[in-house]
Amino acid sequence: MKLSVPGRATGIAAISIAALLTTSAIADAAPARVAAAPDIPVANVKAHLTQLQSIATANGGNRAHGRAGYKASLDYVKARLDAAGFTTAIQQFTSSGRVGYNLIADWPGGDANQVVMAGSHLDSVSSGAGINDNGSGSAAVLEAALTVSRTQYRPTKHLRFAWWGAEELGMVGSRYYVNSLSTANRARISGYLNFDMIGSPNPGYFVYDDNPAIEKTFKDYFTGIGVPTEIETEGDGRSDHAPFKSAGVPVGGLFTGASNSKTAAQAAKWGGTAGTAFDRCYHSSCDTTSNINDTALNRNSDALAYAVWELSE
Ligand code: TRP
Ligand code: ZN
Repeated sequence: MKLSVPGRATGIAAISIAALLTTSAIADAAPARVAAAPDIPVANVKAHLTQLQSIATANGGNRAHGRAGYKASLDYVKARLDAAGFTTAIQQFTSSGRVGYNLIADWPGGDANQVVMAGSHLDSVSSGAGINDNGSGSAAVLEAALTVSRTQYRPTKHLRFAWWGAEELGMVGSRYYVNSLSTANRARISGYLNFDMIGSPNPGYFVYDDNPAIEKTFKDYFTGIGVPTEIETEGDGRSDHAPFKSAGVPVGGLFTGASNSKTAAQAAKWGGTAGTAFDRCYHSSCDTTSNINDTALNRNSDALAYAVWELSE
């Protein structure tokens, strides 16, 4: 609806608008913070994981590149975003002789010359359902996007969310996307935030140390909730932020650990089991909905939203 310009209003309407303006002028004297990041309902994130598990179960137990479970995962995420008012696009590519897909969702509005992106790989390995790797990141990015819609967030910058295909074949989808961008459109991306494995059952709290401003934003969130973090070092560059970083885009992200073992010092600060992998079901058939630590999933989903809101306002 197009609102009438206050100065053109007449009579009684003009008086009530003037009263409203006075009230809002007082309210605006409050601190300049524009929009506080919302709490992401972890129950909603888990509901997406249940859907991804059902999709895997109905399609031979996986959601891998080139398999029916991948396309069904993409269709699920796309339908939710379309219903929420996103502009979605499927980008198709071929890898190892099979068709793969990226899903890109733009939230209408914001400065097209300052794009904040958040993304995750949606494919699993063929040996399992891939619920921590990487249903967790995919579900959290989806729920953050749906929260943008629910709250009708109107940031200064433009928001774009992405779900990558064929990460498990060597970051194929994300590299394809980055290579498909014109130099000008690549330069418009002010930051790419990556979420790959954020609900590991024996979790660590790892923050990528690529771009200092993005890293600080995540660390600020965790400091605020009193959770210590460490720099992510388990195979640095082994996820979809790597092609963005190579192209000069500022990147960051979160990770709760894969096959590395949690040390005694890490167990002392985070709890969990020392001498056991962060995710002992990494790339195996037990990466199901049972392979998720709800506290880690909740904290990382909220940290994701905090960064998206903070970096885009
Ligand atoms: N991307 C890897 C996978 O999907 C997992 C992984 C290993 C990872 N090291 C990482 C993800 C560091 C993010 C950051 O199999
Ligand atoms: Zn993986």
